[in-house]
Amino acid sequence: MIKKVTETFLLHYPFLKSFQPNVYLTRIKKEDRLAIESVHREYCDNYSDQIFSISNRASIAIYNLICFCKPPVILDLGSGFTTWLSYYATRNSEGTTIISVDSSYDWIAKNEEFLHKHNIDSAIINYQTFKENSPNLPYGSFIINDIGDPGNFTLRESSLSLLTEYVRNGAILFLDDIHKPSVKAAALKFIRENNFRFQDLCSVTFDHLGRYSWLIFAEQNES
Ligand SMILES: C[S@@+](CC[C@H](N)C(=O)[O-])C[C@H]1O[C@@H](n2cnc3c(N)ncnc32)[C@H](O)[C@@H]1O
Repeated sequence: MIKKVTETFLLHYPFLKSFQPNVYLTRIKKEDRLAIESVHREYCDNYSDQIFSISNRASIAIYNLICFCKPPVILDLGSGFTTWLSYYATRNSEGTTIISVDSSYDWIAKNEEFLHKHNIDSAIINYQTFKENSPNLPYGSFIINDIGDPGNFTLRESSLSLLTEYVRNGAILFLDDIHKPSVKAAALKFIRENNFRFQDLCSVTFDHLGRYSWLIFAEQNES
C-alpha cells in the first residue's frame, strides 16, 4: 500500500524538523520573488514559453526547498528556467554542485545562451550521456524532474527508473506535472515498487494551467 505523508516530508528528515511545509514553501522575501518572476518572464518571452517552463509557484517552492535543504548536489533534469533558479537559490552558499541535463541538443544550446546571459557558464549534459555515466549523488541531494517534451511525457516517466537508487540513498525528488494522468500513474508505481513516501504539493504549486508537483523521498532513519 502507498503511504502518503500526511504531515510533512520534513518530519522524515531530522535535520529539517522544525519547518512547517506551507509556510516554508510559500514564504519568500519580496526581492527574491521579484527576481524570480522577472527572470521567469524574460525566459518565457525570449527562450521558451509558459507551458514549457516550470510555474512561478513551483519555482518559489523549489527556491525555498533548496535554501532550507542546502543540497550538496542539485540534479536539474530538464534544463531551462530551473537551471537559473538552482544557481540563484545557491548564490550565497558554497559547496553545491549543479548538474543540468536535457534530452534535446537544440534546447541545450538555447539554454546555454540564456544561462550565459546571466553569467552562468555551465555546460548542460545530454540525457543519453548522463544515463550512460550516471554519477553517485550524496545523501540529501535534490532532484528536479521536469524533463522531456511537455506534449509527450514518456521520457519523464521512463527517467524515474534512473532515479531509484538516488532516492533510495536519500535524494529528494521534486516531480512536476503530476496533473498528467500518465505522470501520476508512473509516480505512484515508482513509489509503490520502492516503498517510497511522497508529499503532495498541490496546495502550494497548483497554477493557472492546472499543473502541480509532488516530492518523493525514502523514509530516513532517525539516529
Ligand atoms: C519541459 S522543459 C524543461 C524546462 C525547465 N525545467 C524550465 O523550468 O524551464 C524541457 C524540454 O521542453 C522542450 N521545450 C522547452 N521549451 C520549448 C519550446 N518553446 N518549444 C519547443 N520545445 C520546448 C525542450 O525540448 C526540452 O527538452
